Amino acid sequence: VTGDYRPSGDLLPTDEQLPSFGALRSPRHLAFGEGQRHGAARAVRSLGDSALVCTDKRMATSDDFLELVAEFKAAGLNTAVFSDVEAEVPVDSVLACADRFRADPPDVVVGVGGGSCLDHAKVTSLLLTHGGAPADYYGEFKVPGPTRAVMAIPTTAGTGSEVTPVAVVLDPGRDTKVGISSPYLIPAAAIVDPELTYSCPPTLTAHAAADALAHCIESFSATSRPPTSEAMAERVFVGKSFFTDAYALMGISLTARSLETVHRDPTSRSGRRDLMLAALLGGLALGTAGTAAAHAIQYPLGSATHTPHGMGVGALIPYVMEYNLPERIAEFGEIATALGLPLSGRHPDGRTTAAAAVDRVAELLGSVGIPLRLQEFGLQEAQLDWLAEQSMNAKRLVENNPRPLDVTAMRRIVEAAYRGDRATLRGS
Ligand SMILES: NC(=O)c1ccc[n+]([C@@H]2O[C@H](COP(=O)([O-])OP(=O)(O)OC[C@H]3O[C@@H](n4cnc5c(N)ncnc54)[C@H](O)[C@@H]3O)[C@@H](O)[C@H]2O)c1
Repeated sequence: VTGDYRPSGDLLPTDEQLPSFGALRSPRHLAFGEGQRHGAARAVRSLGDSALVCTDKRMATSDDFLELVAEFKAAGLNTAVFSDVEAEVPVDSVLACADRFRADPPDVVVGVGGGSCLDHAKVTSLLLTHGGAPADYYGEFKVPGPTRAVMAIPTTAGTGSEVTPVAVVLDPGRDTKVGISSPYLIPAAAIVDPELTYSCPPTLTAHAAADALAHCIESFSATSRPPTSEAMAERVFVGKSFFTDAYALMGISLTARSLETVHRDPTSRSGRRDLMLAALLGGLALGTAGTAAAHAIQYPLGSATHTPHGMGVGALIPYVMEYNLPERIAEFGEIATALGLPLSGRHPDGRTTAAAAVDRVAELLGSVGIPLRLQEFGLQEAQLDWLAEQSMNAKRLVENNPRPLDVTAMRRIVEAAYRGDRATLRGS
């Protein structure tokens, strides 16, 4: 869809705005709300008799975690804990976990923590079911069948991994982070309780929210594919459709409404709820539509600079939007509305409204401390060619970008992001 943005004021999209295709992949059991974590033990019980709970050292000593494990035991679950999950999921740490529990594997693998703990749980369940090493499953549709049930309980409002068919790992043998993508990796159950994020410090909150916002924007801007009956079988990430569009727009609105509020006042219950819901909706959107160039660039960027995923995609998304703008004028107009930009006084030219949406995204992320220049990531100018080439290797993400990308275009985006100069991408 291209052309001028015409605010209709209607909740329902017009016939021409509504894509003819709807697709959604999601867990069988999904609960959202304050206090929902207390239903986790019962939900695990419905999946099996024993649970392995994967978390990190910080979380393992928290009151929330100890209470959860006590509830599992009280529900009669044979419960083991692995508390050595490492940030960004180095493959060796998952292999160590799978090796430890291979002799007596649990019925259910539970991830409690940020995206790293959730992805660790997904890959552990995969290795405990099908054996081998993570590298055997890199790419799409390499997982041969169902895995042991996974329950995901996020404690950051960001990745949406609790509902997605992908796990991302750090492989020291590769220059970039790698994904294992398969519908079999979708957790059987996701319990999303905003209270678990109350302890997130401001920087973590900002990085996580930037990740969620990038998921929503990239899913909503993603390419549309022909709505054939084979679409869901041919790709894990099928591009935009009306379910993912609805979730993505709502996620953008919630983030725009509450990110600055929570940054100022981390105790805001309603703000925390908004950000957690935005993260969940972003996960549902990306889990079917897929993400695009900002994620393609973050994988090698994160690997080279050891910077958090959300900080990277947050820094990149304004540049990627700027590059994609000529192909997504109408969509960015809708994003402008979702961001709460005033309808009155809008320029009749859709391009101007679309550009205002990009400006607002950059302003919002900058206001909570996302560094909007890759120079601040410790990246060297001499690495830009390498970064552009590596980014092109994330084929599924590159193909999902609405505006075609080659290495020259990728180089322009990373250079603009490196210098903090979006103007070089504008108007071309
Ligand atoms: N599978 C997916 O769909 C998907 C999507 C996006 C990102 N990811 C992956 O998720 C990972 C990033 O996850 P993340 O951003 O949630 O961070 P994270 O899981 O790496 O955690 C970062 C830090 O935050 C701490 N933390 C977590 N919850 C906390 C809380 N409630 N209070 C205080 N501290 C807390 C952790 O202990 C850790 O030190 C990356 O590996 C990224 O590649 C996966």
